[in-house]
Amino acid sequence: MTQPRKLYIRTYGCQMNVYDSERMAEALGGQGYVETDSPDDADMILLNTCHIREKAAEKVYSELGRFKGLKAAKPDLKIGVAGCVAQAEGEEIMRRQPMVDLVVGPQSYHRLPDLEARARAGEKALDTDFPEEDKFAHLKSRPKAARGPTAFLTVQEGCDKFCAFCVVPYTRGAEVSRPVERVMAEARDLVERGVREITLLGQNVNAYHGAGPDGADWSLARLIHELAEIDGLARIRFTTSHPNDMGEDLIAAHGTCEKLMPYLHLPVQSGSDRILKRMNRRHTAEGYIRLIERIRAARPDILLSGDFIVGFPEETEADFQATLDLVEAVGYGSAFSFKYSPRPGTPAAERPQVDADVASDRLQRLQALLTRQQRAAQDAMVGRDISVLFEKPGRLEGQMVGKSEYLHAVHVADPAARAGRIATVRVVESGPNSLSGRLA
Ligand code: 5AD
Ligand code: SF4
Repeated sequence: MTQPRKLYIRTYGCQMNVYDSERMAEALGGQGYVETDSPDDADMILLNTCHIREKAAEKVYSELGRFKGLKAAKPDLKIGVAGCVAQAEGEEIMRRQPMVDLVVGPQSYHRLPDLEARARAGEKALDTDFPEEDKFAHLKSRPKAARGPTAFLTVQEGCDKFCAFCVVPYTRGAEVSRPVERVMAEARDLVERGVREITLLGQNVNAYHGAGPDGADWSLARLIHELAEIDGLARIRFTTSHPNDMGEDLIAAHGTCEKLMPYLHLPVQSGSDRILKRMNRRHTAEGYIRLIERIRAARPDILLSGDFIVGFPEETEADFQATLDLVEAVGYGSAFSFKYSPRPGTPAAERPQVDADVASDRLQRLQALLTRQQRAAQDAMVGRDISVLFEKPGRLEGQMVGKSEYLHAVHVADPAARAGRIATVRVVESGPNSLSGRLA
């Protein structure tokens, strides 16, 4: 028998890249590769890259530079770049880094075995097409290996919203939803292999409109209700959503579907209507706050999370203050905030930019407020009994870490807290980034 070849994948960026990396590993598994967690003994290194904010591409080049020695020592080593930087700058990468053998954009992963074979034969293999066929349908189905209690499942990809700052519509292409039956089959398979919580992924997941078995287009809410019928699947989440696609049925599902977790990531980006308009978000701050009220009416304990950009072109101090006001009005349990970063080819990159120091200062002020809210929401859990799905050993001896329904990390030191078990935990302490407690 020939030795299996070793594949090292490094993943940057969002959860969809995590999912894609798993699928690429499976696709190359069919070519005789097994995964390794060290680049040193790899026969193939794949960087699954992110292009959402600045310097992402630069990071790829410096990372590639570090593999130069490896490649010199092992001329058979193949180096590939996948993901959104590959999509945006594929040919440029090949030009600037001759050691790269293979470049594959996010819509072409099903062609990876062929690209790998070409790279092995000494060719430079590049594919950044947006093919018509469904890449997931063509990817090899998952081997029936056991896996951890939580999994991502991509149900929708791409985006038609064209927010003025965002590269996603260019790197991931137009919005596409996977058919309901394919999603259901993959979910059932995951559950058979031990998964208890599935997070449905999409750049615009709540715009999901996959073809149902009845011929009609199903909404995300309908898909979630169907998934909830799967025995053994205990928890469902979805991310990321756009406020304008929060349909009535999805809002209602937060109140009626027990398996749908009380956590919602709903980015607003800014609290200023002037900036929202320039961002091409197509909603107002007031509209967003009313929407949150409706969601909270359906599920009063829901924990809200958001994304924010400060220093968007032409943002004034008054605009920024409006963002702080919105944050005060909503009250977030978790949040991600970023300094605006001009992305080549997007409309906002051409607008007058905000001074970098001013943007840094705003980011600090916003993060201080968000951190306060986050801590308050977490501290409020102390003394409560909450449901926790245990996932893996914690850093301390004998400790397990899991997630609350609200996505808090929870530590418990108890042998009965086994991975995959869902148990009630009495929360005893709230630390900087996690809760700890004991089995109730
Ligand atoms: N600059 C800064 N942040 C950005 N995001 C997307 N594009 C940019 C950009 N050009 C942020 C948004 C989005 C999150 C995934 O990344 O907040 O919701
Ligand atoms: Fe980017 Fe999200 Fe806007 Fe789509 S909705 S353009 S993915 S920020």
